[in-house]
Amino acid sequence: MTLLELDRVEVTVGAPAHGGHCVARHEGMVLFVRHALPGERVIAEVTEVHRGYVRADAVEIIEASPDRVPAPCPWSGPNACGGCDLQHASTSAQLEWKASVVRELLARFAQVDQAVRVEQLPSTVGADGQPDAGWRTRVRYTVDAEGRPGLRKHRSHEVVPIERCMIAYPGIRSLPVLNRTWSADAVETVAPSTEPAFVVTDPARPIVEHAAGHEFTLSAGGFWQVHPYAAQTLADAVIEQLAPKAGETVWDLYGGAGLFAAAVADHVGVTGQVALVESAPDGVAAARQNLAKLPVRIVESTVERALVPPRGRAGRSSARLRGPVDLVVLDPPRTGAGKQVVTAIAASGARAVSYVACDPAALARDVATFQGLGWHLAQLRAFDCFPFTHHVECVALLLPARS
Ligand SMILES: C[S@@+](CC[C@H](N)C(=O)[O-])C[C@H]1O[C@@H](n2cnc3c(N)ncnc32)[C@H](O)[C@@H]1O
Repeated sequence: MTLLELDRVEVTVGAPAHGGHCVARHEGMVLFVRHALPGERVIAEVTEVHRGYVRADAVEIIEASPDRVPAPCPWSGPNACGGCDLQHASTSAQLEWKASVVRELLARFAQVDQAVRVEQLPSTVGADGQPDAGWRTRVRYTVDAEGRPGLRKHRSHEVVPIERCMIAYPGIRSLPVLNRTWSADAVETVAPSTEPAFVVTDPARPIVEHAAGHEFTLSAGGFWQVHPYAAQTLADAVIEQLAPKAGETVWDLYGGAGLFAAAVADHVGVTGQVALVESAPDGVAAARQNLAKLPVRIVESTVERALVPPRGRAGRSSARLRGPVDLVVLDPPRTGAGKQVVTAIAASGARAVSYVACDPAALARDVATFQGLGWHLAQLRAFDCFPFTHHVECVALLLPARS
């Protein structure tokens, strides 16, 4: 049967898949259904038609899952704000959803049968001292043609004007942003942990964060973990996995403002050495300032160039990383590290790699590459750094065959 946009079909929804939807089948056609939960019987309305599959929204729930809850945000749901994928799921169902997706990706791409438990981060505390659902310390509101700020629909440039975003950090929600019109295309906001939230008019404005016993100054537009407890949680997980020892050498790849380099530098001490690789100039400038007093060498380069210089050209030796090294932390963007980088790391002599991943599909592909080179996944932790969305952060420990 050919399904067309806006067609409605009744389906029983199966397991969640990466991207915030569940898989369903109808007369041989695969449907990726948003706003549903595993096991539910729903009316699914087709939103996009592709070769071999369609995307759809559950617009009517015929048999609800016991895990379904009323969405706490009135701007969420089919054809509405696309910021959250899991408003309709209880907290435990959100964690189970994410665990199931990570498990499935590791099985599919890396043939690993890995039990996964998604760990919750501490809750934000609101101005009233009560737990608050707002965890996003950075929110970019998009502005529509009439100047109204809002958030985009799922897979669309269309802006949904909103009056409140419940996952925005309380300080960001208090800013006078959503009650007025704007002439800019977007309004960036940030809530640093050391000062009140503000609208970012100058992305170079310095902000200060604390984590892993260190102070980090970075630009308001630079990279920092968005959940207020993520930086500390991830740094703790990396240190626990690697157990760095005095005198060891470490690479911190995709190092940003220096979070992991600072954390490992404390353990390897002055007899050890850390090299941080970062390509964004604002990240490099921040790392130079933040790590000035630590035994860390900052390499301004892409990781690809630092580890795999172009053939026939030696490249700047100051921008090269040469093994052997004892430990590697890598925290790539959503695209993952890729074959070349993983191959270079696998040949570095490292006794352990801690891989911090914001995209479990990219992680699973890179784990498969490591495995092909004789390494194995020794531990996987997963953290709910992005409640109400389908996103999940993983920290994977990879060890070479000899371990
Ligand atoms: C997920 S962030 C991690 C930053 C840091 N580890 C932290 O936790 O704060 C990824 C970082 O990699 C940098 N980056 C992206 N692509 C890169 C590449 N090919 N080579 C080096 N750095 C890259 C980005 O600028 C960003 O700072």
